Amino acid sequence: MKFMEPVTCSVDVPGGELRGASGRYRKAIRDLAGLYEDADAFERAFGEYREKPVYEVTAFQPSSAAGDVITGVTRMSPGTIGDEYFMTRGHIHAIADRSEIYYGEAGDGVMLLESPTGETRALPLRPRDVVYVPPYWIHRTVNVGTTELVFLFVYPADAGQDYGIIERSGGMRSRVVDDGSGGWTLRANASYVARTPAQIVALGIP
Ligand code: F6R
Ligand code: ZN
Repeated sequence: MKFMEPVTCSVDVPGGELRGASGRYRKAIRDLAGLYEDADAFERAFGEYREKPVYEVTAFQPSSAAGDVITGVTRMSPGTIGDEYFMTRGHIHAIADRSEIYYGEAGDGVMLLESPTGETRALPLRPRDVVYVPPYWIHRTVNVGTTELVFLFVYPADAGQDYGIIERSGGMRSRVVDDGSGGWTLRANASYVARTPAQIVALGIP
C-alpha cells in the first residue's frame, strides 16, 4: 500500500483563507437568490452589487474516501439584505449522519441549526468557539457582526451536501435578523413548510 503524504495547511486569519487548499469557490449576491425574505431588498442589492462576494470557501480535500476528512476555511463579509444578516446557503450532509466541527477564527457569527423535525438552535461562533454539528442537523452560518466572519471546518470526506432540503421546506424555520439595535434575534420564517414523515424517513433516520 502507498500511504498518503501528511500535509500542513495554515489558516490565514486576516486573509480569511486556508493556505495550501486544493479548491476554492465564491458565492456572490447573484448566487443567493431566494435565500432572503425581503425580495425587494434582494432585487436592490442584486441591481447594485450582483458580483459582490458574500462568502468564499477554501478547502483541502485529500480524497473523498469514507474515513478521510475535508478541512477548510470560510470567510463571509458583513452585511444585510433587508434586516437579514448575510448567511451561507446552508445544507444537511448528503450522507445525513455525518457530523462536522466548526472553529471560530475571527468576527461575530451565529451557527443556525435545524433538526429534520424542525427544532431550531442558534449557537455563537466567535474566535476559539468550537461548534459541534451533530449527525442529521441542517446547518448554516450567519455573520451578525460588522467585520468579516472567518471560521475553520472539518468534516468527513464522503459527507457531501444536500442544499435541496432547505429549498423544499421554503427555507429554514427561523431567520437571523437585526434586532433593531445592532444585535440579532430569531424571527419565524413565514414561508416554512414542515417536513413530512416520509421526507424525514428518507434521510435514513433510524
Ligand atoms: C461543509 C460545511 C462548510 C460550508 C461552507 C459554505 O459541510 O458545512 O464547509 O459548506 O461554510 O456553506 P454552504 O455549503 O452552506 O454554502
Ligand atoms: Zn456541512
